[in-house]
Formats: sequence, structure tokens, C-alpha cells
Amino acid sequence: MINVSSIYKSFNGKDVLRGVDFNIQSGECVVVIGKSGSGKSVLLKHLLGLISPDSGFIKIDGLNLDELTYRELQRVRSKIGMVFQSGALFDSMNVYENLKIAIDRLTNLKQNQIDDRIEQCLDEVGMKETKLLMPSELSGGMKKRVGIARAISFKPDYLFYDEPTTGLDPIMSDTINKLIYKFNKKNKITTLVITHSMKTVFEIADRVLMLNNGKIYFNGSVNDIKNSKDVIISSFVNGKEILDLEYEKQ
Ligand SMILES: Nc1ncnc2c1ncn2[C@@H]1O[C@H](COP(=O)(O)OP(=O)(O)OP(=O)(O)O)[C@@H](O)[C@H]1O
Ligand SMILES: [Mg+2]
Repeated sequence: MINVSSIYKSFNGKDVLRGVDFNIQSGECVVVIGKSGSGKSVLLKHLLGLISPDSGFIKIDGLNLDELTYRELQRVRSKIGMVFQSGALFDSMNVYENLKIAIDRLTNLKQNQIDDRIEQCLDEVGMKETKLLMPSELSGGMKKRVGIARAISFKPDYLFYDEPTTGLDPIMSDTINKLIYKFNKKNKITTLVITHSMKTVFEIADRVLMLNNGKIYFNGSVNDIKNSKDVIISSFVNGKEILDLEYEKQ
């Protein structure tokens, strides 16, 4: 379980997070939306313990990230698989080596078990035949799928995705959404997805959070966000620009 409580964060006097509160229950798939620059990636970095809040706290499985030693923080991080927008593969290593380095670091598996695990994870994302390819030989969608295979390879309790479908064609986006859904529902991995895509929200979210003006502006179900009459929410959901004035009024 993740508890985020009253997080404030500013950079050079600019308030980015202004009292963010929410929980993620074990097994949930929570999708975070919000316009560009609203602080979604900053929020994610807090959950990974990469930045500390100015005030407030983040607890993962009851542990306050700010109170942990480096070693304890590493132990918490080893429960989290992260899928970055770019795939974040090591360019000088082939697909097999990219997965092996994660499994080596985060598990005690022996070589033959590692090989089995790599086969199995690549198979899960439909990328078995790419094992010996270099990242430069893969398309964006393939890189993304290898990134997902690497993130699940050490059997994390949590999976975080930052904009998993950005830059992909609609069919590949659909494939990625289905993979996120599968690993959440079948493997019961607690999932947090940051996205601009309402299609992703509609296809996979158990619950939606919307960041706006440094706060959680909406926290509810897909149905509730779809039917919301609120101008800020409906303009985002329907992809329509509203005057900045409207944002400032809130
Ligand atoms: N390390 C930093 N130092 C200074 N400002 C930062 C830093 N990280 C983020 N910011 C600022 O915080 C704000 C929120 O950035 P963030 O990257 O979280 O937005 P986002 O919601 O992820 O946007 P996008 O949808 O475009 O990815 C931006 O104004 C950004 O310039
Ligand atoms: Mg971002």
C-alpha cells in the first residue's frame, strides 16, 4: 500500500505540489492525469524516493521514505518496477543483457534460472525473438515492451509507468494498455500509470487521479470522470482547450 500525505514541493520558489494526498491500495491500478507541467513526473519521483517533499510524507508498505537509510530505501525500491517513457534500455547491451542486469541486481537467482526468467518475461510481452538484438534495432513499441519485460523480471510488488503510450501508434498503444492490464490483474502487481491518454484511462484504470494546480483535483472512478460536468475535468477528458483564466479561477 502507498500513502501520500500532504506533500508540498517547490523548485526555486515555484510551487509544484501544494498539498497532495492519496492512497493506493494493494492490487489497484491507479492512473494519474493532468496537463503538461502539472507535476506528474515530480510526484512519481517522490514515490521512487528520488526527491524528498518539502513537507508531508510518502509511505510504501508503512515505511516513510524520508526516514529510511540508503540501504532500506534500496530495499523498498527493489519492490518497484519502473517503465520509463523512452524504455531506458542500455544502448550498449542487447535485450538479454538488459534484463539480466536487473535480475542479477535484484534477485538471488542462479544463471539457468535467470535464463528461464528472461525467456518467460520476454514471452509475456511478445518479444521472445528479440533476445539477441540491440536496442538500436528495436522500434519504439518494441523498446517499450522490453522495458516492461525488464520491469517485471524481478517480480516487483509495484509497477510504475510514466507515459507508457506516448509516441506510439494506436495499435501499439492498445497492446501496451493490454499488457499493463494483464500484469495488474493476472500478476496482481499494484500499478500506477501517468498518462495523457484518456484511452489508457478508460481501458485500464480502477481509479483516476487528476493533478491540477498542485493538488489532486479529482480522485474517483472512470465512470465519474467520464460523466463529470466540471469544466476543468471535462475539458481534459474531451481534449478541449479552456482559457487559462478558467484554471486560475479555481
Ligand atoms: N528538478 C527540478 N528543478 C526545477 N524545476 C523542476 C524540476 N523538476 C520539475 N520541475 C518543474 O516542475 C513542474 C512540473 O514538472 P513535471 O515534469 O512533473 O510535469 P508533468 O506533469 O510530468 O508534465 P508532462 O506531462 O509534460 O510530462 C514544471 O514546471 C517543471 O519545470
Ligand atoms: Mg512528465
